[in-house]
Amino acid sequence: MKKTKLIGLFSAIAMVPALSSAAEPAGEHPTYAKEVSRIIQDNCQICHQPGQIGPMSFTSYEEIRPWAPLIRLKVLEREMPPYQYDHDIGIQELKDDWRMSDEDINTLVAWVDAGSPMGNLEDLPAAREYPAVGEWRLANELGQPDHIIQSTPWDVPAAGQDLWWEPEVPSGITESRCIKAVETLPSAAAHGSTHHANSHFLTQDENGEWQTFGRLSEYAYGKLGEKVPEGACRTVPENSKVSWSIHYYPDGNAVPDDQVTVGIWYYDEEDNFDVAETYPQDLRLYMLDGGGDYLIPPHGKLMTQGFHSFDHPVRIDSWQPHLHLRGVAMSMEIFDPETGRREVLSQASNWNAGWNHSHTYEDGFQPLIPAGATIILTSWFDNTAANPRNPDPDQWVGAGQRTTDEMSHAWIAVTHLDDEGYEKMLAEQAEREQRTVAGSGGGQ
Ligand code: HEC
Repeated sequence: MKKTKLIGLFSAIAMVPALSSAAEPAGEHPTYAKEVSRIIQDNCQICHQPGQIGPMSFTSYEEIRPWAPLIRLKVLEREMPPYQYDHDIGIQELKDDWRMSDEDINTLVAWVDAGSPMGNLEDLPAAREYPAVGEWRLANELGQPDHIIQSTPWDVPAAGQDLWWEPEVPSGITESRCIKAVETLPSAAAHGSTHHANSHFLTQDENGEWQTFGRLSEYAYGKLGEKVPEGACRTVPENSKVSWSIHYYPDGNAVPDDQVTVGIWYYDEEDNFDVAETYPQDLRLYMLDGGGDYLIPPHGKLMTQGFHSFDHPVRIDSWQPHLHLRGVAMSMEIFDPETGRREVLSQASNWNAGWNHSHTYEDGFQPLIPAGATIILTSWFDNTAANPRNPDPDQWVGAGQRTTDEMSHAWIAVTHLDDEGYEKMLAEQAEREQRTVAGSGGGQ
């Protein structure tokens, strides 16, 4: 008897703040119906819906509500959406940027802190439509691809550990042309188990040995296709092979003879001609190392650096850091010995090897690198038990291919420029910055 009364008393006390908040004017707290549903649609649903990679579905209030405290945490720590690129250092203007705005983060947090209220049902937006699984996402804009390349069929089991499938296939490319866009498409059946699929071109050297030419495409779950900046020619090599590195994580469905497909859209001949007239350039993806020979001691930390320069001016179009499990951060800086300028271009201080992104700079914001300037890649490793992703802090860890070895490099897309093209682009950037300053107030 007494016990029941006590519980009654406690719940009465607990009711007090809820009652007083109900008395506040409407709109004081964000509600699910009005603000939060749209934020979840824009930032989370692409992965958190049935059949997709997110471990839980976020398509309704009932589904989302129980996860509210964990959502608050993951969003505040910027672990979700998974896009590891610092928001307070380096170039912030990126294409297909998955990072949430501070405003949206604050709204989500305020909603959870207010007890995750549903709000007024009439405010609910219509359900969002997504491209069918297994269809090109760029097709709406560009139509079907001009050329496709498929991995060799492989049986994906229903259950088990991480699996890697690394076949080499002929590219089927007979003519070197400029890529407009490229997209990697997992099959509809294996859509949930295809975590990553990276592809590289191989070409033959004068001794007939196959060598890496450059990256074709990098896919991580949820990633959209990649578009090459207008006016730049990223070539595909003829008579080449494509080497695949596909990471499957069985999701309960066995998929016999699975194939991953890369689609390539080309620029037209006339487009190419324009490019050649503007600035002679060729866009290639380079793998720059972030410090070659290293050994990370057990329970130790290490920083490595790699230095690179070109004997002509270049524009960097994208940056994709790559580390493994002991890797915790990477940055790309520029040092210009002529002027003494040293600047961080991009940094990822919350590295997570589970997610790989090519961070593409917004047009007009790509860093322009003068001839002879040094690109500095710095990688940080943490082999202590404090690193939550460290599988075994007692090991010595060196560079290598296995997941438990380390890697330290970045893929960068480079547009090669002549002096005239470089000066022209510098002037365009300076003009844009002046405009931004003159018209400031709104920010960008
Ligand atoms: C690109 C796909 C993708 C997007 C976009 C995405 N998630 Fe996730 N999310 C995942 C995957 C995969 C996992 C499970 C693996 C992991 O935690 O990395 C996950 C895990 C989570 C978890 C559980 C973490 C845990 O520790 O159990 C929460 C909570 C979460 N996501 C919330 C969100 C929210 C909120 C958004 C949007 C603001 C979002 N996610 C956007 C793919 C995504």
